[in-house]
Amino acid sequence: MKPSLLLLSHLCLFSLMPPSWASDSAQGASSLTCWYDSRAALFCDWDPGRDLAEAPCQLEILSKKGFCDRWSRPSSEKPKKHCKLPKAEHMTGLRRCIKTFNQNVNNQCFTVADSLNLSVHCHTGENKTKIPEQIKNFKPFANIKLRPPGDLQLVNITENTSNLTWSLNISSHYLDGKREYQVRFRHVSQSWEEHPSQSCQF
Ligand SMILES: *[C@@H]1O[C@H](CO)[C@@H](O)[C@H](O)[C@H]1NC(C)=O
Ligand SMILES: *[C@@H]1O[C@H](CO)[C@@H](O)[C@H](O)[C@H]1NC(C)=O
Ligand SMILES: *[C@@H]1O[C@H](CO)[C@@H](O)[C@H](O)[C@H]1NC(C)=O
Ligand SMILES: *[C@@H]1O[C@H](CO)[C@@H](O)[C@H](O)[C@H]1NC(C)=O
Ligand SMILES: *[C@@H]1O[C@H](CO)[C@@H](O)[C@H](O)[C@H]1NC(C)=O
Ligand SMILES: *[C@@H]1O[C@H](CO)[C@@H](O)[C@H](O)[C@H]1NC(C)=O
Repeated sequence: MKPSLLLLSHLCLFSLMPPSWASDSAQGASSLTCWYDSRAALFCDWDPGRDLAEAPCQLEILSKKGFCDRWSRPSSEKPKKHCKLPKAEHMTGLRRCIKTFNQNVNNQCFTVADSLNLSVHCHTGENKTKIPEQIKNFKPFANIKLRPPGDLQLVNITENTSNLTWSLNISSHYLDGKREYQVRFRHVSQSWEEHPSQSCQF
């Protein structure tokens, strides 16, 4: 590792997917954006606008192939799941839901062959339902956003070298050999903002 790294006391770590697997532009309509953590969870952000910020709404998730309980459940089970959308967050104005399809967060719930239809359903009056937003043909594997790595540790080996380790516990084996990490560092006296983002990728 570079000598300059010894000076740092602040590091941050990212895990990235190559552009062919994911990008900043997730698939979706303008106000609904969803990401897949590559295992058992789907994260969705919906910008409800002013009218539907507090309406009772939920995300409906349809999958022809079923979900990760597809092997153990009778096939008569409806391939449909719901995720309640809580009230809009104060800071962002977004309504977010996290759907975990299995109790085991490391269960492989989707593959590249899966395609989902996602739609927001809101009750706007007695017997009245509105579908303000939907994404057809959402491909989980084309919209991967990995969870942040954890357990970052820096151990001095010699005066000028150190060993940096971390863990990434929730990530699909389908991505083995395709993950990239980025380490960003700065001098103690600088802030992340004013630092000309030095980083190393590997
Ligand atoms: C998703 O919507 C498309 C277009 O309406 C439809 O052809 C397809 O069967 C739907 N998929 C599921 C899983 O419901
Ligand atoms: C809502 O549906 C119920 C049952 O179908 C019906 O009895 C009721 O009159 C409906 N209300 C309105 C406002 O349409
Ligand atoms: C990852 O798993 C290891 C070993 O089970 C555990 O010690 C660690 O806390 C986990 N890290 C995160 C970020 O969950
Ligand atoms: C590692 O080395 C740096 C530079 O010599 C020192 O500032 C830091 O305290 C050391 N960290 C540990 C955990 O020993
Ligand atoms: C460590 O780096 C410092 C500053 O670059 C240098 O003066 C020193 O000789 C290096 N020590 C070793 C053991 O390489
Ligand atoms: C760095 O840490 C890893 C994980 O603890 C360990 O396997 C490796 O041997 C260490 N490398 C050195 C040079 O100490």
